[in-house]
Amino acid sequence: MSTLPPEPPNAPVPFLRFGPRPDRTRYEGWQEFRRTRDLFVPVRKISLAEYGLMSPRKKSLHDLHRAATHVNMQMLDTPMSEVVTTLMRSRIQNNAMRIGPSTLDGLMINGGGYQGKTETACRTATEFEDTWRDLFEQYPECYFDPMPGTRDLIAPVAYCQTPVKATPIGLCEAILDYYGAPYGKNLRGMIRNARESIKAHATTVLIIDDITRLKMHREDDQDTLDLIRGLMDLDVTLVLIGVNIPRSGLLREG
Ligand SMILES: Nc1ncnc2c1ncn2[C@@H]1O[C@H](COP(=O)(O)OP(=O)(O)O)[C@@H](O)[C@H]1O
Ligand SMILES: [Mg+2]
Repeated sequence: MSTLPPEPPNAPVPFLRFGPRPDRTRYEGWQEFRRTRDLFVPVRKISLAEYGLMSPRKKSLHDLHRAATHVNMQMLDTPMSEVVTTLMRSRIQNNAMRIGPSTLDGLMINGGGYQGKTETACRTATEFEDTWRDLFEQYPECYFDPMPGTRDLIAPVAYCQTPVKATPIGLCEAILDYYGAPYGKNLRGMIRNARESIKAHATTVLIIDDITRLKMHREDDQDTLDLIRGLMDLDVTLVLIGVNIPRSGLLREG
């Protein structure tokens, strides 16, 4: 007879999540992703003999946990992800410390599909956000003036995805959706609202994923270029992620 401790009858299953996965393109979802990104505990390695001693219920839970571990693989460092991470981290941090009103350097991450652009950029941004929040929790008074009677959301990082077949207005809507902010009437109003949200939420990094979905059509070519220019004037480190950015025409006219 083995002397295993008795199993609790209804122990929770800590490695499964209930409900939808966090939507990183919304402030709340991004915060959930930031808080929970490293919480998954991989299954413990055990010997066959140890496995044999388990009760059928323990065995099935162990099997499930193993499957969950394979599904939730940890992020690995690759030479490419290391270069991107180092550059992105230093650029974000340097820009966040700039005091003067000069234009901030941005960053473009270009590469093929499924090469880890999104994950690498999101992880690096959350790491920056962790550090930035830690710093300012120690000096809350210098962060910004709280407005009585309102809920102040500090969002050091904003992440949005370009919608498929996006127009400049559609991209602006995606930025405003992150904050749950109201849309503007036209492109100029949209950019103005985006600028106000960025300021009000003390955002220092704006990540726009899949920017190359913003196709250059003849009719709103000029709008797109205006939008890119408007985004570059925002007071944030702009991180643009896309497939084949140089050929997309988004960089025309400097
Ligand atoms: N450094 C990494 N280590 C482990 N898995 C990774 C890494 N980078 C990306 N992945 C995985 O590869 C897949 C594609 O990554 P993603 O960032 O969506 O690619 P892209 O945005 O370039 O199309 C995702 O399932 C992601 O979890
Ligand atoms: Mg991607």
